[in-house]
Amino acid sequence: MEKFEYFSGIPEVGIVPRAPHAGPLLRQVFEQEHGRGGFAGKVTHSYHLYPPTNWLADEARVIEGWAPRWESPLRPLGGTHVALSVMAPDEPRDVYRGMARLVANATVAMNVTAPRAPMDYFFEHHSATVVYFVHQGGGTLETMFGPIEFTRGDFLIVPKGITHRFELAAGPQYYWVYESFAGDPEKSEAPTTGQFLTHSRSDYRYPRSLDTRNEAGRFEIVSKVDGVYTRRVHPTHPFDVIGWRGDCLPYRFAVEDVRPLVADRSHMPLSAHTVFKLPGCYLCVFTVRSVEKEGMWLPFFHKNLDYLETLGYHFGDFFSAGGVVREGMVTIHPVGLPHGPKPAALKAFLDGRTPSVHREVAIMADLANPTAISEFALGLARPDYMKSWGGYATDPRFVHRPDRLAEVRGLAERLADARDELRPPDVDR
Ligand SMILES: [Fe+2]
Repeated sequence: MEKFEYFSGIPEVGIVPRAPHAGPLLRQVFEQEHGRGGFAGKVTHSYHLYPPTNWLADEARVIEGWAPRWESPLRPLGGTHVALSVMAPDEPRDVYRGMARLVANATVAMNVTAPRAPMDYFFEHHSATVVYFVHQGGGTLETMFGPIEFTRGDFLIVPKGITHRFELAAGPQYYWVYESFAGDPEKSEAPTTGQFLTHSRSDYRYPRSLDTRNEAGRFEIVSKVDGVYTRRVHPTHPFDVIGWRGDCLPYRFAVEDVRPLVADRSHMPLSAHTVFKLPGCYLCVFTVRSVEKEGMWLPFFHKNLDYLETLGYHFGDFFSAGGVVREGMVTIHPVGLPHGPKPAALKAFLDGRTPSVHREVAIMADLANPTAISEFALGLARPDYMKSWGGYATDPRFVHRPDRLAEVRGLAERLADARDELRPPDVDR
């Protein structure tokens, strides 16, 4: 025992050798490297009771038709906004066998799953790091590095290749699942606001309680590479890890830990709410926050010229969504097509009816063009969503008037020298 305690430069748990690939312990246990970027990127080493390659060779095989909706064919969406109903599974399926693809580009896919059956196998995604958002439910994500408890409103990040399984708590479960094929999610932060906004790395929860299993039996691991699913069987439990060291790890991040940037006199652009950047995608959290006091508090009309926007509605009133959207639904706004507040929300703004709080939590993932939609998603599409903006073509306040141009010119002249009021009205002058 040394006189003082020290942190090592790299996270570690349990029994590990003094350094990777070195020391007498490696004659007793079996080291496995989980590494990105060939052998030169983020890496974790795990130390096992048994060799990780002790599979039963005769039993390894490709399994056909294992998760058919995950491979739902993709097609171009074109210029139509789409709102997807909540998926109602026709039979109880587990997290992965019930996974259904919604949209995808070359580097990212968004999926949905509503698991109701336990996993009697372990899973490894060999082509993506996966980000889960738990819209409903909870349980334990069991990983070779230790368990992670999760509940409603949590993100789970599972790096590519990590052996894991979900143990579900009782009750309904509903997750949005984002696969990142070309890199791990990177924390987003602006250079001028620093590392603690809109969240801090200290909000990430990595496993630390190793639950080492020295068990014999038949342990099935299903791996996914692109659209190919392969099952292999091991004679010892895959969680035979007695220690690990590294920074390529699964973790949890709670939506409550997002501390949003707000501005009194301007509407924050949506990208100000980005929490993760992935190759070909950025992922934002719109959370409960103060309403802009004097500026426009609604999303401005916009066309996103480089991304298709997905928005998963987790919690809230969603008045600005025109009454069509409910919790659990996902809207898809394709590249280039204008959108913005629904007529009722814009009228509220124009009439000066300003709430004090945005009472909502929604998860936005924008996927770089070209992004395609799946046949499965089109099967969930509601036919009435484009009508949400219908008031703009019928409401007298928004439709054509012959004197409209003259009216706006007159108003512009009157307002030309207007400045923001900085002095609060109740302050003595
Ligand atoms: Fe948008």
